[in-house]
Order: sequence, then structure tokens, then C-alpha cells
Amino acid sequence: MSFSRDISSPARSRHAIPPSGSHPAPPCTLVIFGARGDLTKRLLIPALYNLAGSGLLDAQFRILGVDRTPGDTAGWRDGLAATMQEFTRDRNAEFYTPQIDPGAWSWIAERLEYVQADFSDLEQVRALGARLPGSAVFYLAVPSRFFGSLVAMLGQAGLTSEQGDMFRRVVIEKPFGSDLATARALNQQVLSVLDERQIYRIDHFLGKETVQNILAMRFGNLIFEPLWRNEYVDHVQITAAETIGVEQRGAFYEPTGALRDMVPNHLFQLFAMVAMEPPASFSAETVRTAKEQLFESVRPIDPRDAVRGQYGTGVVADRPVAAYRDSAGVAKDSVTETYVALKLHVDNWRWSGVPFYLRTGKSLGGRRTEVVVQFKKPPVAIFRGTETAALPPNRMIVNIQPAQGLTIEMGAKRPGPAMDLADVQVRFRYEDAFDLQPNVGYETLLYDCLTGDATLFQRADNINAAWTAVDPVLQAWAQSAQDLEFYPAGATGPAGADALLARDGRAWYPLDQT
Ligand code: BG6
Repeated sequence: MSFSRDISSPARSRHAIPPSGSHPAPPCTLVIFGARGDLTKRLLIPALYNLAGSGLLDAQFRILGVDRTPGDTAGWRDGLAATMQEFTRDRNAEFYTPQIDPGAWSWIAERLEYVQADFSDLEQVRALGARLPGSAVFYLAVPSRFFGSLVAMLGQAGLTSEQGDMFRRVVIEKPFGSDLATARALNQQVLSVLDERQIYRIDHFLGKETVQNILAMRFGNLIFEPLWRNEYVDHVQITAAETIGVEQRGAFYEPTGALRDMVPNHLFQLFAMVAMEPPASFSAETVRTAKEQLFESVRPIDPRDAVRGQYGTGVVADRPVAAYRDSAGVAKDSVTETYVALKLHVDNWRWSGVPFYLRTGKSLGGRRTEVVVQFKKPPVAIFRGTETAALPPNRMIVNIQPAQGLTIEMGAKRPGPAMDLADVQVRFRYEDAFDLQPNVGYETLLYDCLTGDATLFQRADNINAAWTAVDPVLQAWAQSAQDLEFYPAGATGPAGADALLARDGRAWYPLDQT
């Protein structure tokens, strides 16, 4: 990630992916374990295609796809080409583009090579070495149970040693562990093979422009930062509400649940961007240290500050939705939560006394990922006795998706002879200011990894600290599921989530507000 400020450009500027002015990444081979998987075709290959189109990959860049499925390079390439064409027909696809640029696609296609290999077999992994003459990035797009053993095998096969400028890096997808103990053990295992600087623990939320923009907004402007503290902020809400259910992912979701799937990773990343102290620079270590200091100030969550729910049958966007328990791969008496709401206390000077409420859920009535910073009311109500005294407090809403931008809610004088205030919104929307290019959010992350910039990736201590915060809740929930509530698909969540805020005299920002 690099920051530049283009003050000469007009209001609408064209943004390359990643930042304009970037140079092609150094030559290397990207080895994708799990080449036949969903992640590869839906996200990694489109991201590489976009990077190729932006001229950000070196002429000697190569992609080596590794998977157990029998097949050859031509078959793999044709399958990927077909998926790319499908994107042009589906406006709702994660990567919708009206047409595939033949030049950029053939640039990628020429560099694809497929190898059928069993990555639990040391000899087969060792054999990959012959195809890796120089630098390499190993991307583990495989189920999480293979992370530790695959890294161990890469080490045993001698594929992780670096010499001179030649680098060897490993990208590890989420989930990184399933609780504090397993995350610590996995960290220990990978750190016994690799140096921390070789490890890129990915969280795709950090690839979102709007998430990175939180840093730009907070630290590239002066007007927000003075207000960003307990003197002025009443509380913060972090929401990742989804309308989709578990779809075909029951087998993964059933032992995972909403808390593990979303909180110590995605929601904590949003929390870190919003709440960390200004880092002294944007170097990877400085930013990750600032996050670590924040995470260490989070009080381990009291299970009484956590609410869980599971969706039953209902209607989402006029479509009937079956209960979670009726999904494929899910037990009929499942107690897995599809919704979680939590209250975080941050024991540091800036945020002491300011609760952070986090919520995420599936099959909800609205889709929105956002951060709502709610400010305190003005100290003196000079408009006492008028309706204006009842106006809502100021809110700043960081719109992550589907709306992308920033919304400020404030009072403004209603035209007319009386001093009458109305609640209005000031809005910045990405699409109004920039000419947005279709992207999948992995472009910056892949480019950063290829160029050795780990700013947007998790360090071992960040991962462990996030699990430490949620661990008391996981432990309490494992004891008994008595507190599990049910909500109909299409609702805003279980009643307990509203009660969590109501007992503090607060309410969630509505899910249907724009
Ligand atoms: C994934 C979770 O990491 O993030 C999914 O496993 C979730 O359950 C997804 O739907 C949300 O990501 P996004 O980018 O669609 O908001």
C-alpha cells in the first residue's frame, strides 16, 4: 500500500489498481495451491488479470497452479477463460466487467501452468522446486486444516529458503485458527519454518478501497482526528450485515459460526482502522504495531456482552428462505450462530468509556457493511423548547459496501423565518468522485505481497490478540447454547441484539437507512 495525493487532478480522476505511479512487481512465480478451487477462479485470477491490465506485473511473472485434481495446463486455462467470460454476463458477479480485454487475458493465459500434485506428499511438493528458478510466492488457497502441514512441507522440501534478492513468501488465507489455542499453535508452526516477514496472513476486508480509505480519511485530513476520541464520541457501531445465507457452505459454516467467521478477522480489521492511534509512518511494522497496541487495550469480552442468533425460515428481498437448520451440511438441531452482536471496551486514553458495538449476521433484511461513529450531543441545548432539542446527534458513517464513501448526519437550519433545524446528510460517494474500475479487492493485496509490503496483512501478534479478546465468549458458548436466539430470515437480527444496546440507552443504526 502506498499513499500519494494527486492534488492536480480534476474532481473525477482515474485510479489505477493499485495506486497510480506504481511500478511492476519484481519477477516471480505465484504458486497457487488449490488452483481448481473457487477462490482461485472467482478472485485470484480476475485480480491478476486486472494487475496485468494495469501493467503491474513483470514480463517474467508466472502462475503455477497446483491441485490434486487430474488435468493439464490447457484444461485449466480453458476453464479459467470460461469463468472470465461468465463474469461479463452476470452483473451481480463479484467481478462484473462488460468485456474481457483480450490483450490482458492472453498476457495472463500465456503464463499459466498447471501441475497435478498431492500437497500432502513431500516428494511431490519437493518436485515443484524444479519449476521455481527464482523468487516465489506460495498462495495457500486450500482449506485451513492444511495450512500448518503445507507450510511444514514447503520447509522440508527446501522451498522456503531465500538467497540474496530472491524471496520466498507464503500467503495464508483465513480462518487462521479457530480459537486462541489453535491460532497460537498455527503461528508457532509456521514461524518454526518461516520468518515473520515471509508470512502474509490475508484478510480480504483490507483489500477493499473503502476500508483503506479509513486510514486516508483519518490521517490524511485534519478535520476528523481532533474529534476522534472519548471527549466527543458517544459510541461506535461496526456492522457487517448480509442478506445471503450460508448457501452451499454449510459444511464449512457449521463448525465455524458467525463469530469465528467474521469477528476476530474482518470486524476487528475495521475496528483497528477506526480506533488505532496514528502510526508514525505507513511502514508495515509501524502500522501493525499500532494495531497491536489497540488490540492489547481491548478488554476480553464478557460473555454477557455477547448475543448470538440463528436464522429460521423467512423472506429476504421477496424470496422465501429456508431455515439455517435446513441447509445442506447443517445439523437439524444445530446451535451454530449465524448472527453475533458484541460490546467491546477499549481501555486506553482515547477510547476509555466509549463502547464499540459489533454485529454481523446472515440472511438479514439489509446488506450493508459500515462503521457508524456517533458523537455526543452539543453540551448546551440553545434551541431548548423547540423541536430542535430532540434532533439526533451527529453521526459519521463510513460506508464500506454496497454504498462506498462517507456520510455525515448533521443538523441544518430549515429555510424559513423560524430557527428550525432539520437532520440532513452530507455525502461523499466513490462513484461520484472517481472513475471506478471493476476489481475484486485482491488486486492491492496481491500486488503488495509481490512487492513485499506487509502493511495490509496480519502479524502473528495481531491474530493472537484478536482471538484473545473473543476467547471468553467462545468458551462460554461451548459450555451451553441456552442463550441462542432465533430470528426469521429477513429480520434485523435477534431481539437480544437490540436489548444489548437498549440497556445502555442506545439503539442500532437502522439497516435500511441509506
Ligand atoms: C468471508 C466469510 O470471509 O467474508 C463469508 O467467510 C462472508 O461468510 C464474507 O460472507 C464477506 O465478505 P464480503 O467481502 O462479501 O463482505
